[in-house]
Amino acid sequence: MDLATPRKVEHQQTDRGYVPVYATGVVEQPWAAYSRTDHAVWDALYKRQRELLPGRACREFLDGVERFGLGDGGIPKFDELNRVLGRATGWELVAVEGLLPDEVFFDHLAHRRFPVTWWIRKPEQLDYLSEPDLFHDLFGHVPLLLNPVFADYMQAYGRGGMKAHGIGPAALANLTRLYWYTVEFGLIATGEGLRIYGAGILSSKGESIYCLDSSSPNRIGFELERVMDTRYRIDTFQQTYFVIDDFEQLFEATRPDFTPIYARLAGRDGVRARDVLASDRVIQRGDRRGFADNDDA
Ligand code: PHE
Ligand code: CO
Repeated sequence: MDLATPRKVEHQQTDRGYVPVYATGVVEQPWAAYSRTDHAVWDALYKRQRELLPGRACREFLDGVERFGLGDGGIPKFDELNRVLGRATGWELVAVEGLLPDEVFFDHLAHRRFPVTWWIRKPEQLDYLSEPDLFHDLFGHVPLLLNPVFADYMQAYGRGGMKAHGIGPAALANLTRLYWYTVEFGLIATGEGLRIYGAGILSSKGESIYCLDSSSPNRIGFELERVMDTRYRIDTFQQTYFVIDDFEQLFEATRPDFTPIYARLAGRDGVRARDVLASDRVIQRGDRRGFADNDDA
């Protein structure tokens, strides 16, 4: 299947309106169909995070937000962002209906295409949504794609995903933990202190505050195999954050072939999300206040 040239198969009536659907699941961003409410939701979320994130988000992310002009008013047009993005790092945004099957997602990343959910949450969902929407995908993930090292990491992850998919579900689960604790919920150490680079945090007001200010979670130095062996929570704020020193460290640590790592981790139960190990480089040990008693997902 040639995913680079999506073939339009039909126009489809979905519960989100009438959108052109392609064989690959790539659609055209139905920009003209966004309502005034949709644009207002974007503006409200944008304003809230833009005011909160200086001093919390890493510099590379804030730079990216400015370069894209994400706050110019209303939902951005992917075509316009793509002109900036293509010139900077050769990445391209493609509009999709939502979460994709693993192999399709990996194939996009491996070809420097980032899938962005085209629809945005409702006004009553500003604080929480259980699946990725346009605000999470675009505001959370896309600014860092302007950073050359991070852009390369995302492509390498896509290639690694295809490989893990071929090895089997356990390998895929280990790789997914890496994505979760870096791309979605990663922190980075800077001269001014810890900063956020994970998209799951950057698109959430509550977790943008909690991940840096709360005494509950652990903050532990990034170590590849430790991260790939750690379970995670999908229902609450994270119980542990892993902290990288810079994007070069992340890229270099993930460069080696993971095959022997998958073999070592196979059959292991995985470290609980809340636990601290004797071998950890602990930046801050959490006091676990408020943690639920039930186990990780
Ligand atoms: N080096 C990894 C492998 O061999 C690929 C990878 C790169 C995975 C970057 C994740 C992130 O599978
Ligand atoms: Co995401």
